[in-house]
Amino acid sequence: MNQIDHFEKKSKSWDMNSTRVINAQTIATSILESIEVNDSMSLIDFGAGTGLLSYFVAPKVEKIIAIDNSPSMLEKFKEKQSEFACDTQVLQADLSIDTLDIKVDGIISSMTIHHLLDTKALFDKLYSMLGDKGFIAIADLDSEDGSFHSDNTGVFHYGFDREELKAIAQASGFKDISFQTVSHIKKPHREFTVFLMIASI
Ligand SMILES: C[S@@+](CC[C@H](N)C(=O)[O-])C[C@H]1O[C@@H](n2cnc3c(N)ncnc32)[C@H](O)[C@@H]1O
Repeated sequence: MNQIDHFEKKSKSWDMNSTRVINAQTIATSILESIEVNDSMSLIDFGAGTGLLSYFVAPKVEKIIAIDNSPSMLEKFKEKQSEFACDTQVLQADLSIDTLDIKVDGIISSMTIHHLLDTKALFDKLYSMLGDKGFIAIADLDSEDGSFHSDNTGVFHYGFDREELKAIAQASGFKDISFQTVSHIKKPHREFTVFLMIASI
């Protein structure tokens, strides 16, 4: 089935937006400060896009599997693949549909989960892809008024309420759930905050 690539136009200039790059770097730094990762770990970067988050986490782990449903964003990831400081694997998959039979030590994600309608189904899927002592580290927007994106096509959540997200994660089996504010994104009309949710199985 041919699906719409919502990121086809944006992919070409995605990495040229310095706010995005700084946001991804800030999220990566917070992940690495909060979780003990090591160079024998394999991680999934869910919604990896062009690889901004992967790039900054790569020096600390053995392998990152970049999962994304956008062929154009993954093309940009592949163009940079030799620059990453760890092994990388690109996997085109839509986690609102596909189930993947893989296990990793952790799943990282930045600015992606608001693009999936069913958050509980997603968290169930993420849980099933984690091995012993596996973790998730997911960054996304706090609840907003719908004005973050200039076009809300493919946006199913205007950010998230932290307590509601915690309850969903708990229902999927996640434990030790914590939140921190990791980034502020300034737009001409207002500022948005980005949380990092960390949890383990
Ligand atoms: C806002 S971008 C973030 C990209 C990257 N994480 C970053 O911080 O630059 C969201 C990404 O999630 C991907 N995505 C959206 N829905 C998805 C789904 N159902 N399955 C897999 N990837 C998805 C998009 O293609 C896009 O690359």
